[in-house]
Amino acid sequence: MRLFDYPRPAASDITPEGAYLSRRATLAAGLAGGAAWLAGAPRGAWADPLRAAPGALSGTGLTPTPFQDATHYNNFYEFGLEKTDPAERSGDFHPRPWTVRVEGLVARPRTYDIDALLARPLEERLYRMRCVEAWSMVIPWIGFALADLLKEVEPLGSAKYVAFESVLRPAEMPGQDSMLHVLDWPYAEGLRLDEAMHPLTILAVGLYGRTLPNQNGAPVRLVVPWKYGFKGIKSIVRIRLTETRPRTAWNDRAPDEYGFYANVNPAVDHPRWSQATERPIGARGGFFGAARQPTLPFNGYAEQVAGLYAGMDLRRNF
Ligand code: MTE
Repeated sequence: MRLFDYPRPAASDITPEGAYLSRRATLAAGLAGGAAWLAGAPRGAWADPLRAAPGALSGTGLTPTPFQDATHYNNFYEFGLEKTDPAERSGDFHPRPWTVRVEGLVARPRTYDIDALLARPLEERLYRMRCVEAWSMVIPWIGFALADLLKEVEPLGSAKYVAFESVLRPAEMPGQDSMLHVLDWPYAEGLRLDEAMHPLTILAVGLYGRTLPNQNGAPVRLVVPWKYGFKGIKSIVRIRLTETRPRTAWNDRAPDEYGFYANVNPAVDHPRWSQATERPIGARGGFFGAARQPTLPFNGYAEQVAGLYAGMDLRRNF
């Protein structure tokens, strides 16, 4: 197994390069000999506690998007509408202390402290990410299967869906405090229970071998690689199992444009643009130089997930 050679982080990055490289060496050692603690340079008051285990980096044929692009070309409307807003305007956001409440139709509702989530066995997953806006990235996430967490709270037989809610903090999130009122806050998303239990679905607490930066959804966000990026709700505080389909932020806002399922599908166009191709961010000469590439059904994960939708009309359930 071999670690991908990530594009070098920028000088302004959150971790001094020496610490990053030694952490990568630790991770490489971990790949050879089991899980390893990754002790990084302190960011703010606390040290990076990420622990990584062998991940899905080898054999994917994917090249990670440059770190600088993945952390400076973001959608996080709580901090503003521009792609650079989340990196520039999230400096006052505090991802500590933090808890995630898991409740609803479960036998053992539980509140998880973020440090307990970070202390779980973590693994690295190199996933494609396809935004509904027709751009894409490849991101090495660090996290754990959402299914593992859900099994611990013991879903009841009546649970059919999983609802996710982001934090509501207008004092720290200028977009929530704005007159523009783009979305009904807090941001909300949802999955069918079988989608949430699928082994590709993870809760991410890190990327590129380090703790999740604020702009990418600190301290914990959802990653569902076969769905459009807006399903990947950031800065989660509540996970609730329900019998009925939960409200979701973008579907509330524009139900004709953003479906509940939101499976990546090159055959179903957005009402205002084609979904047949995508622009890989940061590839071959940057934003304007990057050639478009074909979009893949289920974002390239059809073999693993198409069965979840057997017999469904994916045009109607877009
Ligand atoms: N989660 C919250 N809370 N608020 C948001 O605005 N944007 C979504 C998703 N999760 C969003 C969110 C969209 S549209 C995308 S494409 C991804 O986050 C972007 O993730 P990234 O910035 O880490 O690439």
